[in-house]
Amino acid sequence: MLPPGDFPLNKFDICIIGGAGRAGLPISIAWAAAGQRTVVCDINEKSVAQIANGEMPFREAGAADVLSEVVGRTLHATTDPQVIAESDVILVVIGTPVDEFLNPSYEAMLLFFEGILPYLRQEQLILLRSTVFPGSTDAIRDFLHQRLPGIQVCFCPERIAEGKAMEELHTLPQIIAGYEENGVRRAAQKFQLLTRDILFLKPLEAELAKIFTNSWRYLQFAIANQFYMIAEEYGADFHRIYKSMTHNYRRTAGFPGPGFAAGPCLFKDTMQLSAFARNTFFLGHSAMLVNEGLPDFLVREMKKKYKLRKMKVGILGMAFKADSDDNRQSLSYKLRKLLRIEAAGVACSDPYVEDEAFLQLDDLIDWADILVIGAPHRDYRQLDSRGKEVVDIWNVVPRPAMADAEAFALKDGLLT
Ligand SMILES: NC(=O)c1ccc[n+]([C@@H]2O[C@H](COP(=O)([O-])OP(=O)(O)OC[C@H]3O[C@@H](n4cnc5c(N)ncnc54)[C@H](O)[C@@H]3O)[C@@H](O)[C@H]2O)c1
Repeated sequence: MLPPGDFPLNKFDICIIGGAGRAGLPISIAWAAAGQRTVVCDINEKSVAQIANGEMPFREAGAADVLSEVVGRTLHATTDPQVIAESDVILVVIGTPVDEFLNPSYEAMLLFFEGILPYLRQEQLILLRSTVFPGSTDAIRDFLHQRLPGIQVCFCPERIAEGKAMEELHTLPQIIAGYEENGVRRAAQKFQLLTRDILFLKPLEAELAKIFTNSWRYLQFAIANQFYMIAEEYGADFHRIYKSMTHNYRRTAGFPGPGFAAGPCLFKDTMQLSAFARNTFFLGHSAMLVNEGLPDFLVREMKKKYKLRKMKVGILGMAFKADSDDNRQSLSYKLRKLLRIEAAGVACSDPYVEDEAFLQLDDLIDWADILVIGAPHRDYRQLDSRGKEVVDIWNVVPRPAMADAEAFALKDGLLT
């Protein structure tokens, strides 16, 4: 290992390990734009080459323009871990390791740090940004302190929403949790380059703040989905109910609409919290049953309504959220799996997710008997379904029948 003190001037102000990822790249770009000498260090060779070339490896609103301005100037990208040794601050934002039971894997994180140990020095500051199982920051800090006494560790959770990162990095408060005043101060100085609003917590509190937030979101979606299923089962139009519940009524502000609640974070973090609470987080498990059960509910409803076995189904939108190309843990794939068994055929389309097997939207509409909206992409707001049945939990597609009913009620003075 290199002795401390051999680095009078570091080449980089900050190294982002996992910096080619969905959470890592926006903050790398933002720091580089703030004048920090920033280096992305990532094992994904393809993404690193794209970034070094000034190309975004995925969709993120507003990121491409800033990337093209900073690349080769204040932003560099490499797969070579040597840059870790050449950096003052190291931010770690690799994917949260979970095992096959969706339980967090402490060992994987410690193994990661063991792997980068040859590049670490006592004077460096480690910022953990991956969402971690509560207690991980303490474990990582103990592990590092035994080997490099004096190295400083802080947990600084990522709380932005994909697709809004370039805006939210500057508008959301940043939570910082650490041990020594000096480390916390150094971390705050880095984040103050992005946002003015800094909150300080203890590491366990910050870890819980992050997974409580994601679990709470996941539960909110579950309530909406459960209400949707109850209404639908009784033949009531949930979206009309929803509209009346949320219209000019502050207490339901923030009540989300129904839809597939998936993606790489909410489900995993709810299950992490469940494991941390020693399986007493019953609300979390219930939310998981509701949200993960929604594709099956839709298929059962379709079976009641149509001769599904004789019909071909087209799924529109395979990403896990609107206007995104991120299909990680998207429930559209679970829906496709169920429909492969229950329908005469199933095919998919998505304007952003690349897959050779997907059809163009027009071809899919021609081919299918029924269309199901899997992700509420903006593109579907003007969808012309050409008379095909549309199953739309999100209420994204214009509904002529609803418009007629409303026009009728308006004419009769029943609606304002
Ligand atoms: N995506 C989000 O909006 C978001 C929001 C909040 C929290 N998070 C958290 O951020 C973390 C990362 O999530 P993500 O969505 O960016 O995942 P991602 O898969 O998009 O990015 C992770 C990156 O880490 C890289 N990586 C993995 N192991 C590595 C290693 N040993 N050395 C160098 N690079 C390595 C991968 O190649 C990848 O580019 C997770 O803990 C997640 O829970 C993400």
